[in-house]
Amino acid sequence: MKSMGILSVFMMLFVAFAVQAQPSAIKIDQRQLVEYPKDAREEFLENMRDHLVALADIVTALATRNYIEAANIASSRLGMESRGADGCRPMKSHSSMDMMRMHSQPDSMALMMPGDMKKLGQRMHRFADEFAEAARNNTDLQHDDVAVLAALGKLVQACSDCHSKFRIR
Ligand code: HEC
Repeated sequence: MKSMGILSVFMMLFVAFAVQAQPSAIKIDQRQLVEYPKDAREEFLENMRDHLVALADIVTALATRNYIEAANIASSRLGMESRGADGCRPMKSHSSMDMMRMHSQPDSMALMMPGDMKKLGQRMHRFADEFAEAARNNTDLQHDDVAVLAALGKLVQACSDCHSKFRIR
């Protein structure tokens, strides 16, 4: 019995050493994998890259105090009514007949996206609209940068909230 105790202490030390020696080997990716067909995956990532370009354009517009420009970019490229939001729209039903009728990519994208992910997507699009509103409200030269930047912060955080939960490859 005693030797079993010693053996297990030894094993624990060994495991602890192995874990410490190879920290990267035990790092587990906790994100949920969402499997898209190849074409849809390419389109999804292209849309994502455009999201980042839109964010860069927003920051550039803000740097020159061009609030209207920043607002327009946010609502037209990231907002709820933007093309990029098509894949996150709620579907009326999920029957197989609907599946067969689906021809457009955004519709099928919306069908393939898990509900939790779609909610995070809608949340990001909503924050983009709220940012646009904050930026538009700032045009009478009140210079309320704090409100505008806070809204921008919420938007960027919403991108990262989804990135930390889901992956597609
Ligand atoms: C609803 C979830 C979700 C939201 C919201 C979201 N993304 Fe993504 N994004 C993803 C996923 C999933 C990937 C793929 C990650 C992977 O598989 O490694 C991705 C990948 C990306 C990539 C890499 C593209 C490539 O070609 O590799 C960029 C850039 C990106 N997102 C930018 C953004 C920006 C900027 C925002 C916010 C304005 C945003 N994303 C919001 C889910 C999201």
